Amino acid sequence: PSSAMGVGDVVREELGSLHGIPLYKSFVEGWPQVEAFQARPDDLLVATYPKSGTTWLSEILDMIYHDGDVEKCRRDAIFNRVPFLEMKAQGVLSGVELLEKTPSPRLVKTHLPVQLLPTSFRDKNCKVIYMARNPKDVVISYYYFYQMAKMHPDPGTLGEFLEAFMAGKVAYGSWYEHVRGWWEKKQEKQLLYLFYEDMKKDPQRELQKILRFLGKEAPEGMVESILHHTSFQEMKKNPAANYETMPTALMDHSLSPFLRKGISGDWKNHFTVAQNERFDQHYWEHMAGSDLCFQMEV
Ligand code: PPS
Repeated sequence: PSSAMGVGDVVREELGSLHGIPLYKSFVEGWPQVEAFQARPDDLLVATYPKSGTTWLSEILDMIYHDGDVEKCRRDAIFNRVPFLEMKAQGVLSGVELLEKTPSPRLVKTHLPVQLLPTSFRDKNCKVIYMARNPKDVVISYYYFYQMAKMHPDPGTLGEFLEAFMAGKVAYGSWYEHVRGWWEKKQEKQLLYLFYEDMKKDPQRELQKILRFLGKEAPEGMVESILHHTSFQEMKKNPAANYETMPTALMDHSLSPFLRKGISGDWKNHFTVAQNERFDQHYWEHMAGSDLCFQMEV
């Protein structure tokens, strides 16, 4: 019986499937509540494929929402300040339950592919910020995350994980379909599509884009404060941003920290020449016909 289940039972469990998308079994069980989720018009959705800069963007948005007040942004862990919509696990509030208790205006995190987004977000015309990251850095970041976050099955060798990623057989399915699916929505006024690499290159310019999209203005001092507080070095040492308050049984930072490297191009330290050629070829096949472009390094 599920009531007798403990953390140990979800550790290294095989993924389930949600409408053909591989996903943690507990999330699949919680799906009816997610599908029926009631968005509010002033909800802001932060949508990403995993390991694409979700936490970074979330911290930036919480800072904007609190006028650059660093202390207010330490009030709770990032996963409570920006609830994870489809999250469900034994013994803690689900994403939907947490969101119901969150006062507006809410920030909502999701990794759902666009076709699975609960209809309420569109009915209420909610704003969405999507952030994408190049797939080579995503797959490396994901490989380390699979190792440290125990709700994932064993990732195997990097070679095996690369194959699983290319085949869309990792949590949340195909990266290619995810980034393309959301890209097709980018002509909608309510969607801002950002890139991790742009954020690395010119965080100030990207922050201004976000502010403009939200219709907010920030004095220069506040912009500086947001950029400083959300830098990789600052977030890495901030317990409210670095996930260190998660139980070790779920995330073991001694295997790999959640804020691991925070750079673009780390894949070069991991891919063999042959793996890179194979990945490139697969990439071009699966991105053909799209005007969506990625920078593999900055
Ligand atoms: S999750 O689990 O999907 O929500 O993870 P997500 O936050 O999307 O991605 C984690 C990666 O983002 C990096 N990160 C950052 N990079 C640059 N600057 C800042 N401030 C920052 N915060 C998080 C984090 O280090 C993970 O990438 P890797 O390449 O593994 O370091």
